[in-house]
Amino acid sequence: MIGCGYLGAVHAASMADIGHRVYGLDVDAARIATLGRGLAPFHEPDFDELLHQNIQNGQLTFTTAYEDLDDVDVHFLALGTPQRDDGLGADLSYIHSALDSLTPLLKARNGRTTLVVGKSTVPVGTARGIAERLEEIPGVKLVWNPEFLREGFAVKDTLRPDRLVYGVSDVADETAEVHMLDAVYRPLLDLEIPRRVYNFESAELVKVSANSFLATKISFINAISELCDITGADVNDVAEAIGMDDRIGRKFLRAGIGFGGGCLPKDLRGLISRAGELGAVDSFAFLRDIDAINTGRRDYVVRLARRLLDGEFDGQRIAVLGAAFKPDTDDVRDSPALDIALTLYSEGARVKVTDPVALDNVRKRYPALHAEDSVENTVRNADLVLLLTEWSEYKQLDPAVMKELVSEAKIIDGRNVLDLEQWRAAGWHVEALGRS
Ligand code: UDX
Repeated sequence: MIGCGYLGAVHAASMADIGHRVYGLDVDAARIATLGRGLAPFHEPDFDELLHQNIQNGQLTFTTAYEDLDDVDVHFLALGTPQRDDGLGADLSYIHSALDSLTPLLKARNGRTTLVVGKSTVPVGTARGIAERLEEIPGVKLVWNPEFLREGFAVKDTLRPDRLVYGVSDVADETAEVHMLDAVYRPLLDLEIPRRVYNFESAELVKVSANSFLATKISFINAISELCDITGADVNDVAEAIGMDDRIGRKFLRAGIGFGGGCLPKDLRGLISRAGELGAVDSFAFLRDIDAINTGRRDYVVRLARRLLDGEFDGQRIAVLGAAFKPDTDDVRDSPALDIALTLYSEGARVKVTDPVALDNVRKRYPALHAEDSVENTVRNADLVLLLTEWSEYKQLDPAVMKELVSEAKIIDGRNVLDLEQWRAAGWHVEALGRS
């Protein structure tokens, strides 16, 4: 497994768990040392146990040295493809430098069949370019096998995915590369998990299309939510009833402060960029709006907060519940919650942030923000409370107890999870997005 970030580390432990001998490689020596000691570098349910067990039983080893991979039959590429600094497209430099290090090992196998499996999310057209690069090495085959795991469900999504997609150079039934990857995934295939073989380009597009479609659903309901605020409709009711149409479905229609994380925003922008390069600018203009609606939600909450504080942030005490981009993860990449907290702070408010698991990352990346371990200390004497990540413990907060702690009983429910009647009955002024 080349690249032991979120995807690679979970995939490495999962492949070890289904019986393979796995080497996890990363150039980040500190991360490899942590993983090698059986410690998870991020919060992910079920991962710690999987990691620990498979290191203990000798199935899983971590390394920074490519030479340790010289006898490997299947190389997974799980390198990050972050948004480029200079534009919306994906930065593929980590993949290319991994291939630079891997190529001499592949050549040294003297024609023995070796499979390279790309798992990273890449712009359509990338895999064919890599296949051309590998073509000159006898015995090497490439499959592009996108990963659809969600943070918070990463182990489950890896071992019980909805589908396995193989992107290949030429779609044919019985190729060596399909057989080899089937052998890797045999325990999953035995569970009748659907497996589809497509050409490289389709496999690449499946991944970015899926994430862009999910992003579109979220921004759509968030746009409707603004109309709900203007007219007095309730966005949760609208989402519930349209979701009963199974052509639409209820999932990903939760209105609120919008999407964040390491994937949806990046993949959406990557698709806009790639479509532009390929000459389909106009047809993808709507995705720019999807992105703008999403980031606009953050401004919307800041404006709402300003209104609740009578137009003045200076010196006001604001409590922010939630820092992770969604519950059950400590990932704060492009977190809408933190983005809002940082804006309020930069506008002069005295902001305290809490989160059940993401505070270490907050302290590391945003030392200026005041991070508090307990909800009580966060909300004590606050003039305004913002619920921005829907952790289950925040959904269950007792409004009567909370009211005793704050200075002003005002709350913005940025995720539409509170029982409005219960909170209002306890004396709170509650603003929920799209449920005014
Ligand atoms: C996503 C895809 O779901 C996954 O298939 C892919 O492999 C990686 O990207 P992830 O980034 O873990 O997974 O998060 P996801 O659960 O999709 O949530 C993304 C964001 O959308 C979060 O910020 C979440 O709070 C937000 N969201 C989700 C909403 O605002 N409303 C919803 O209805 C659903």
